Amino acid sequence: MTILKDSYGRAIRDLRVSVTDRCNFRCFYCLPHGEPPAAPKEMMLSYEEIEYASEIFVALGIEKIRLTGGEPLLRRDIETLVRKVAALPGLHDLALTTNGFTLAERARGLKDAGLNRVTISIDSLKPEVFKKMTGVDVLDRVLEGVRAAQRVGLTPVKVNAVVVRGHNEDEVADMAAFAREHDVLMRFIEFMPLDSGHEWSRADVVSGREIRATINERFPLVPVHTERGAETASRYRFADGAPGEIGIIAPVTEPFCGACSRIRLTADGQIRTCLFSKTEHSLRDRIRSNASRAEIVEYIESVVMKKEPRHYINDAAFEQPARTMSLIGG
Ligand code: GTP
Ligand code: 5AD
Ligand code: SF4
Repeated sequence: MTILKDSYGRAIRDLRVSVTDRCNFRCFYCLPHGEPPAAPKEMMLSYEEIEYASEIFVALGIEKIRLTGGEPLLRRDIETLVRKVAALPGLHDLALTTNGFTLAERARGLKDAGLNRVTISIDSLKPEVFKKMTGVDVLDRVLEGVRAAQRVGLTPVKVNAVVVRGHNEDEVADMAAFAREHDVLMRFIEFMPLDSGHEWSRADVVSGREIRATINERFPLVPVHTERGAETASRYRFADGAPGEIGIIAPVTEPFCGACSRIRLTADGQIRTCLFSKTEHSLRDRIRSNASRAEIVEYIESVVMKKEPRHYINDAAFEQPARTMSLIGG
């Protein structure tokens, strides 16, 4: 079987599919000023088109698919898509990233449809800080979602927190305590320049090193010794053997591009070869032009060859991509 490889020899094993651009949260590090006008519906990939694309990607060696958005649970009847994608032979892992708003009600159905696990964004455990960071006052509901995901076995449950100076950096150790109490994988993410407000500044980035040191003071950590591979996170467990795990995702200060295995498909059918790509490649147009399967395969292979070596966040000439995280799919 052919496996997708880029021009730097990186094997592409991980596809992130955004199923909608819409989101009902207003996280200030992503969509602070609200959504751009919605693109016409016909620009968006249908479920049939997403299935077709996913099937081809899996045949080309993709082992892991993550459904993202926007907020993927806002797309009507996402369980139908989950069922189809989960059934693709050769797929090892199907995950979904959600803000957790409707997860408590939907967890069971998602599990039954074949979803393996969820990652839930929670930036603060203080209701007022949560509201300030996300624009919505719904921390309790989201915590219910975490419990529901664990109950139905959408595990291991990962919780993502973007750490931003002056907002939640004082909560890092409390969130580590949450990981221990609730047996979740708590991941701390450096703030990246992907916000629609273009308000990112280096001074707002709390580094992975600082996060590690803060947690270590209260809960000594030991590195988890597995092959890091293409993982975004460096992983730690608690030295005292408590449940839970800590992941530190430090794309700004400790870039992991050299081992990147990721490629993205946006809700409107564009392939992005990097989070920070300046160009996109319309798989949608290929699919809709009645290209043969062999032509689509050839197109995907040629696009993957154009994958960027790395992001340029730390270069003086860095320019933020036009699309924000909500339009790319975290
Ligand atoms: P799993 O380990 O399979 O659970 O997935 P993951 O590590 O990709 O986790 P997730 O999808 O939750 O991503 C966590 C965060 O890492 C995202 O929200 C982004 O902020 C960041 N991230 C994910 N992929 C990339 C990437 O390719 N490049 C960069 N720079 N950041 C990424
Ligand atoms: N920097 C880092 N991570 C971000 N996310 C969204 N915007 C940013 C940003 N500017 C991530 C969050 C969220 C996921 C959907 O996308 O981790 O959990
Ligand atoms: Fe991969 Fe681009 Fe992310 Fe680097 S920034 S890890 S190259 S997607």
